Amino acid sequence: MADAKVRRANRDAVVVHVDNAQTKRRKLSHEDMEESRDPLEDSGCTRDADSEESDDNGEVEDSVAEDMQRLERSFRGFSKKYRLINRIGEGTFSTVYKAEDLHYESYSNKWDLDEKENLYSPSGRKTHQSGQRRPHFVAIKKIYVTSSPQRIMNELDLLHDLRHSDAICPLITAFRDKDQVVAILPYFRHLDFRAYFRDMNVADMRIYFRSLFTALAAVHDSNILHRDIKPTNFLYDTHRKRGVLVDFGLAERHGTDHQPCLCTLRKEDRKQRIQQSYNHTHDHPLGYPKGDQRPSLRANRAGTRGFRAPEVLFKCTAQTTKIDVWSAGIILLTILARRFPFFNSSDDIDAVIELATVFGKAKMKKCAMLHGQMFECNIPTIGEEGYTLEKIIIWSTRSVTRDKYGNKIRLGAAEAEAVEFLEACLAMNPDQRISAADALQHPFLKERDGGSEDEMDVLSMSSPAQ
Ligand SMILES: Nc1ncnc2c1ncn2[C@@H]1O[C@H](COP(=O)(O)OP(=O)(O)OP(=O)(O)O)[C@@H](O)[C@H]1O
Ligand SMILES: [Mg+2]
Repeated sequence: MADAKVRRANRDAVVVHVDNAQTKRRKLSHEDMEESRDPLEDSGCTRDADSEESDDNGEVEDSVAEDMQRLERSFRGFSKKYRLINRIGEGTFSTVYKAEDLHYESYSNKWDLDEKENLYSPSGRKTHQSGQRRPHFVAIKKIYVTSSPQRIMNELDLLHDLRHSDAICPLITAFRDKDQVVAILPYFRHLDFRAYFRDMNVADMRIYFRSLFTALAAVHDSNILHRDIKPTNFLYDTHRKRGVLVDFGLAERHGTDHQPCLCTLRKEDRKQRIQQSYNHTHDHPLGYPKGDQRPSLRANRAGTRGFRAPEVLFKCTAQTTKIDVWSAGIILLTILARRFPFFNSSDDIDAVIELATVFGKAKMKKCAMLHGQMFECNIPTIGEEGYTLEKIIIWSTRSVTRDKYGNKIRLGAAEAEAVEFLEACLAMNPDQRISAADALQHPFLKERDGGSEDEMDVLSMSSPAQ
């Protein structure tokens, strides 16, 4: 392994430490790469936020121990720099290990929020009460060798660009040996989403989403689309009430692969184009045209099923940062409805049907047309108008929908405000969808005077419905 000349985040460019000449890589095709792991699968056996130091005593499976040894062997001198502890995550594109950073003290560690807050040593001491040096942990992301070099470089490059935001997990450094690349990230303590989302009251949601939207606003401000917003990519520490965004493996700069889409036209021009297309279709007999010369429509559909925005499903070729706001909205819907995953389609057609079930055929038709597509559906249970999000949440969380006087149950003021925010995140038209920066100014997320949350928040949903 080449000597690490520059290591920390204040470098000018991402330095990937190289050992040998590159070997031939087996690359996955674009189609293989675009689907991120299923939301139900364990992407990372997420650790308890309190278990940081007990990890050392945790069981390490034999296969994991072998993988860790292999990793140590791949990079000469690796075990002198890092002490691998255990596997903490296994995603579609990588395996993530927890390790102790043995040379921590030799570098400036501006990224270390714990150290900034002096959480462990209020008196400025850098040691445990036992007198030992406090261990410093990192997450080592071993990117699968099947990933294309461009994809890996893209992830490291974007992480480097975003290094100044506290809400984004920064890149400390990266190493390469032949076709094996590892990224070194600060280890961030967090809990598995499934362990806490059902117990969140509205006050908790405000804090969680303030943190998530702060991260999104920073990403979007740098003109970057994350493309894979979902609970396993937002590591949230429920004790410190702080989260960081990880996994920029599918992220891209705004405008990459942009092609004109009808949604970018003025309303009148769009109408005219749709009318032309309609007339053309109706001048010809029904069926597929023989020897169709039109190029097939290709659009980026990278992301995770259940979290894809409608414009991604309708193959919009001019996608924007608003796709991330939609996915964040799906996380809020999951928490409010207390159901994970909320949408669970097996493919994009199913996903469109799931959206139609909630939002209704009329909105879906309008949305499809916005991107030059047609939506037709003859499933009898899917109505024209769909349901309000308030209704969906009441159905999911209450055992009855009417009180003892026969009146319809309504959401409390705090939950209603959350739903109003949810509606802004789940606007079908990306142009009308709230931006991450504006979301932070929405009454649901805006910091209250004195920073305290409303009492009504605590009362509302304090005993979550089953
Ligand atoms: N900095 C970190 N600190 C602690 N845990 C982490 C860190 N980075 C990643 N992890 C854990 O590893 C898991 C997988 O990481 P990541 O999402 O970056 O990889 P991936 O291969 O792209 O995963 P996927 O395809 O499932 O989204 C995360 O969900 C998380 O549990
Ligand atoms: Mg991930």
